[in-house]
Amino acid sequence: MSDVVLELQDIHKSYNHGKPNEINVLSGASVQVKSGEVVALVAPSGSGKSTLLHIAGLLDTADSGSVTIGGHSPKRSADWERTMVRRGEVGFIYQFHHLLPEFTAQENIVLPQLANGISRKDADAHATDLLTRVGLAERASHRPAELSGGEQQRVAFCRALANKPALLLADEPTGNLDPATSDQVFAALMELVRDRGLAAMIATHNLDLAARMDRVLHLRDGQLVDE
Ligand SMILES: Nc1ncnc2c1ncn2[C@@H]1O[C@H](COP(=O)(O)OP(=O)(O)OP(=O)(O)O)[C@@H](O)[C@H]1O
Ligand SMILES: [Mg+2]
Repeated sequence: MSDVVLELQDIHKSYNHGKPNEINVLSGASVQVKSGEVVALVAPSGSGKSTLLHIAGLLDTADSGSVTIGGHSPKRSADWERTMVRRGEVGFIYQFHHLLPEFTAQENIVLPQLANGISRKDADAHATDLLTRVGLAERASHRPAELSGGEQQRVAFCRALANKPALLLADEPTGNLDPATSDQVFAALMELVRDRGLAAMIATHNLDLAARMDRVLHLRDGQLVDE
């Protein structure tokens, strides 16, 4: 079995197709990320990091090119298959936590597991384990509004890992935190990722954080290039 978890091949994506204001965001982006490999995605604002991560995580579709995750290459039109692969293989972390406000930290981590067919008991045990790992066991019954920004983001990491994905995609996961908190939260994330041997692609503007990953990729003219 190949240990390539994510493969993007020749991804093209433009917005406002065929119109005078057409924007070519991705024009032949390709990359392979192996299990256990953590890749930083560094590029100026507006250069297509979020677009690339959404396509890689099957949250959006490319105009052409292929996305392979854990050996699955669902077609653009295969909505059900895309959902199944995303649910089973991908954990996604947004810049802002996107936790469900009316549910507790624990419930935010349990719900995606229930949606994936895990029993309530096992989902609860796994959520508790994850929260303990990021130092938030005592905050399990807090709602997002009752957590600090760094705590919210740590809960979002736990939620992204709830269904034991092979691939973690993170879009500036510490972008809205102060530098000290960002550092701590990033360390917590890296520990979880390393422990589980995940393949990860993490967009960041923070070059210190990027330097702590295995490889740094840049988006230049719509293509991914090694540093
Ligand atoms: N739905 C859309 N319709 C039209 N243009 C879009 C759309 N989404 C993004 N764009 C454009 O595509 C380009 C890439 O956007 P993207 O959000 O991927 O950049 P980014 O690298 O993530 O930037 P940032 O660092 O600011 O988050 C930008 O010029 C943006 O304006
Ligand atoms: Mg972005």
